[in-house]
Amino acid sequence: MSAKLPRVPLGQQGMMVSAQGLGCMGMSAAYGGYEGEEAQSEALAVIDRALELGCTCLDTAEVYGPYTNEELVGRAIKGRADQFQVCTKFGFKFGDGQFTGFDSTPANVRKVCEESMKRLGVDCIDLFYQHRVDPNTPIEDTIRELKALVEEGKVKYIGLSEASAADIRKAHAIHPITAYQLEWSLWTRDAEKEIIPTCRELGIGLVAYSPLGRGFLTGAIAKPDDLSEDDWRRSNPRFTAEAMEKNKVLVDKVRAIAEKKGCTAAQVALAWVHHQGSDVVPIPGTKRVKYLLDNIGAYNVKLSAEDMEELNFAGEGVAGDRYTTEHMKAFTFHYGAANV
Ligand SMILES: NC(=O)c1ccc[n+]([C@@H]2O[C@H](COP(=O)([O-])OP(=O)(O)OC[C@H]3O[C@@H](n4cnc5c(N)ncnc54)[C@H](OP(=O)(O)O)[C@@H]3O)[C@@H](O)[C@H]2O)c1
Repeated sequence: MSAKLPRVPLGQQGMMVSAQGLGCMGMSAAYGGYEGEEAQSEALAVIDRALELGCTCLDTAEVYGPYTNEELVGRAIKGRADQFQVCTKFGFKFGDGQFTGFDSTPANVRKVCEESMKRLGVDCIDLFYQHRVDPNTPIEDTIRELKALVEEGKVKYIGLSEASAADIRKAHAIHPITAYQLEWSLWTRDAEKEIIPTCRELGIGLVAYSPLGRGFLTGAIAKPDDLSEDDWRRSNPRFTAEAMEKNKVLVDKVRAIAEKKGCTAAQVALAWVHHQGSDVVPIPGTKRVKYLLDNIGAYNVKLSAEDMEELNFAGEGVAGDRYTTEHMKAFTFHYGAANV
């Protein structure tokens, strides 16, 4: 039985969130296995159980589906939205449900805010992130519109994801940024050089996405055939047979420490993120109650300095980039080619 998660501050504007959040993306997109009534009712059960255990910070986005993940979250929290921190993201445009580019123009920020509120069934979004910087819209224009939405009571706090350090500063000068969402885990540490110090200097809270290495660090995925045909990870450089074989040494280390502690590998991988600081909130993603319980339990797993050192060492020289070069250029180029 997992103990209830405490609430912690995120950023410096007064936002309080559960010490671990719940990534909802996989309930409607990306990793397959979410279609059908049974899968959807399990996803709803995950959110019910998360609330019981104090895991109230829910992460979704317009693009997950698109739209269907926000709709699912809206169904799950109906009548009790005030018990959750509802966090969503904008920044893309779509044609016939397909991604067609970026759009953080003030008009689109406002439009997505209104539509997301409807899908989520809320009259205010707790944390509204720009998902990716729009190369054609100055970030100042986007933040000015977000600031107006805060003043109108439609958004409580503002977040960024994968923006460069320079853009974080420009944005923060217009309106305080509460949270920055970044990929951060034992095998993705490039943000530690510049992004994380910038956020810390400005008092911006850190939300770690894909903290389980998209599932790899749990030891549950050993080869491409462990992934369904429609799983996005099949196109990810870290999920080729060669990369998985090379990165097995990292999973073996995570497993060895888990065995020593009497916990699961997923818990060790997540505990490593929790040990990065009290300003860090990981948002592991799952659509299964059993994984949710496992992940929440990680909050109380203690790693010694020696464990951390061993894990850090094992995480060096990971094979495969976190996204394809094409994907990095298209989606995270603002974060800097040096990080590709
Ligand atoms: N800002 C961004 O650009 C961005 C990008 C990616 C993700 N995100 C957010 O971050 C959230 C988390 O990231 P993520 O889902 O990509 O990766 P993740 O949390 O690192 O891993 C999710 C994967 O791990 C599996 N898993 C979860 N708990 C497990 C456990 N205890 N034991 C074994 N396997 C376990 C899940 O399986 P099941 O699916 O079968 O439960 C899923 O395949 C997303 O849901 C999304 O909200 C944001």
